Amino acid sequence: MDSFARQALWTETHCPKAFEDFVGNSAAVKEVRVWAENWKLGKKGKPLLFHGHTGSGKTLLAEITARENAWELFELNASDFRTKDIIERIAGAAALNSSFSGKLRLVLLDEVDGLQGTADKGGAAAIGSLLRQASQPVILTANEIYGDAGKKLSGIKTHCELVKFEKVSYLSIAKFLQKVCDSEGIDYDQKVLSELAKASNGDFRSALLDLQTVAEHSKKITLQDLKDLGFRERQQDVFKVLQKIFHARSIQECQNARFSADIDHEMLQRWIEENIPRHFSQADDRANAFNFLSKADLFNGRIMKRQHYGFLRYSTELATSGVALQREHHYPGFVSYKFPSMISTLGASKGLRQQKKAIAEKMRSKMHGSVKRIAS
Ligand SMILES: Nc1ncnc2c1ncn2[C@@H]1O[C@H](COP(=O)(O)OP(=O)(O)OP(=O)(O)O)[C@@H](O)[C@H]1O
Ligand SMILES: [Mg+2]
Repeated sequence: MDSFARQALWTETHCPKAFEDFVGNSAAVKEVRVWAENWKLGKKGKPLLFHGHTGSGKTLLAEITARENAWELFELNASDFRTKDIIERIAGAAALNSSFSGKLRLVLLDEVDGLQGTADKGGAAAIGSLLRQASQPVILTANEIYGDAGKKLSGIKTHCELVKFEKVSYLSIAKFLQKVCDSEGIDYDQKVLSELAKASNGDFRSALLDLQTVAEHSKKITLQDLKDLGFRERQQDVFKVLQKIFHARSIQECQNARFSADIDHEMLQRWIEENIPRHFSQADDRANAFNFLSKADLFNGRIMKRQHYGFLRYSTELATSGVALQREHHYPGFVSYKFPSMISTLGASKGLRQQKKAIAEKMRSKMHGSVKRIAS
């Protein structure tokens, strides 16, 4: 068993199981319920394309739809769309044939905007023809379906009913977080929940991950905890960037992921370091990834020592493309990336370290040594 078996994430343990528990986007919930009822009555509706705000529950609502109707769920995500063959053979078969039990099967094509331009042209066309012929209910999800990002989806959109997911208000998210805290036995300052909810910008995944990170250290969470954990780093963005980097197939993809992130290179490297063992479950890939990360670190050392920031381009490339592109194995599915433990430990021990520093400063005048030396 892997030493980094997925820990229970609150996005999983506090995930709504029924339509009634789904927060926000009531119009979308109503539409999918009517659509599902119609399917059950033999009225085959068009595939639904859920689009809009990240972390608002697009994938979740599709999963609830399958569960509530006791349908089988067949799910493909972005990394599977890369091969036309998988779409035609596997998803095609799932969308065309009924299940052995005779029940309907929901085909979920998750994150179809993960199709990459011309490289996946065959994939987009294969999805288009799957949608035309499907005899089972199909739901697709995407964040952005308009503008440049949506161009590659033009052959898909025409076969779908579009269902928009709006950003959920921070008040609704704060209320949801409150329920989570109550069931986890966490004592909270109401303001902390509002701050977390506001910062999540309508993204439940981000709000829950932030809350879990903050609550990891104490059963009572305060505004100070938010500050100490450097919580302003937008975890959700980082999760997505990590996913893109670890799954990248070219240097260009790694660079695009990096540039889309509002995170400095040092913090990104910490995230990569923490999550290499979580993402790469095969020993040879782990070793290769750490090897490249250690090379990046050599350049980091030179940057610090010589203040030669030109080396940054090597360090960043080694820590991202180097780490990601040497892999020998394929890693489908979701990995629960973790906040860098070193940063949390530093955050949690900040008070203690400040105390130590203050004492060392007082001792310095008597001992004629540096604060660093006395404190160590
Ligand atoms: N409306 C909601 N009510 C309660 N919890 C939610 C809701 N939406 C999302 N969540 C929580 O956030 C997690 C992530 O949601 P989900 O994966 O469905 O988002 P998404 O819209 O598909 O995001 P993305 O665009 O990034 O794929 C869920 O597992 C659940 O824990
Ligand atoms: Mg999703």
